[in-house]
Amino acid sequence: MDQELCQFCYDASMRSDPLAFLSTELDALTARGLHRNLRVLDGEQQAVATVDHKSVVNLSSNNYLGLTTHPRLRERAIEATRTLGVGTGSVRTIAGTMAIHMELERRLAEFKKTEAAVVFQSGFTANAGTVSSILSSEDAVISDELNHASIIDGARLSRATIKVFPHKDIAAARTVLESLPRPQRKLLITDGVFSMDGDLGPLPALCDLAEEFGCIMMVDDAHASGVFGKNGRGTIDHFGVHGRVDVQVGTLSKAIGVLGGYVAGTAALIDFLHHRARPFLFSTSHPPAVAASCIAALDVLLDEPEIIDRLWDNTRFFKAGLTALGFDTGMSEGPITPVIVGDAALAMRLSDRLFAAGVFAQGIGFPTVARDKARVRTIVTATHTKAELEFALQTFGTVGRELGIL
Ligand SMILES: Cc1ncc(COP(=O)(O)O)c(C=O)c1O
Repeated sequence: MDQELCQFCYDASMRSDPLAFLSTELDALTARGLHRNLRVLDGEQQAVATVDHKSVVNLSSNNYLGLTTHPRLRERAIEATRTLGVGTGSVRTIAGTMAIHMELERRLAEFKKTEAAVVFQSGFTANAGTVSSILSSEDAVISDELNHASIIDGARLSRATIKVFPHKDIAAARTVLESLPRPQRKLLITDGVFSMDGDLGPLPALCDLAEEFGCIMMVDDAHASGVFGKNGRGTIDHFGVHGRVDVQVGTLSKAIGVLGGYVAGTAALIDFLHHRARPFLFSTSHPPAVAASCIAALDVLLDEPEIIDRLWDNTRFFKAGLTALGFDTGMSEGPITPVIVGDAALAMRLSDRLFAAGVFAQGIGFPTVARDKARVRTIVTATHTKAELEFALQTFGTVGRELGIL
């Protein structure tokens, strides 16, 4: 190479790699059988999908209702792209709020039966941005031990005191609340549906506690919206606690089939988040196609509730099949059904063997779940056929016996 160009060349031998420790950690994961390569979808996100060039029954997506490929959503996305372009070019608070964002938020508030709603880039940023903006270092957050990582990160960012209670343990949550100074501001927070176990947060009992101790009550309904409650309004509707939950979070990335998260609540809460929630203030808004297809998804929930009935029919069928085979399916109450095997390496082996046999169910270990609770997580959708689910059950049976799990 000529002399002139070479003065810009980087000579790796001049510098030791300050990131070398990452390779050491990755090697340790590999040695424990826990290193995973990303699985790649070759086409659409569907009930039977081509993943890593192999056709598999897909039990790994959050596409509960099959809306990722629903014709009404697809058409609205294309139309919005044609008429409004592909991007917004700004954050919401500067020049990135389009009429279609406002329309989506109006529709979400109406759907969730609240005064107002605000959309974030993801469910993760909705949780993290909300918890971190409404609390400060003077306050306390009282959180179920299995709450989602985005809630935990939001609590850490807020610098509030974090008190974790054992999973769904109302008596323990009460003990925590009794130990805190009465005037301190407190946020009591739970997932509506717990993402790794598929069980429901005990909303009525938590709302009682929140009212007794004057807490802000917040529910992350990421996995419940589109699944539980009338037309998929979520666990607040399922438990009939409308008006008792101050902050409702949902995502647009799971049953809704698109991308994003939202907070629904009072007009004052939403106005406050417009001014203080950092992901809302400092990150660009959704492309018009995202907002348009989310509006179409809400139309589908209202016009085609039979899709939700199909999801539940498939859920009951598949769950009963796994139980009949003799698997430990934990405490699930909905379409997320874990197959708990304990050891993480065994969970990964089960997942790999299932995949080789044509069933895609992701293995999940620590830190996503406790060390001794590794599992393969299954999620059925409304669009699986009974034949596909039967094939998956047979495969689970065969592989489970081969690995000595059954
Ligand atoms: C309980 C829960 N909350 C929030 C999120 C984040 O949602 P999103 O994927 O829209 O960021 C997830 C997604 O994994 C989740 O499981």
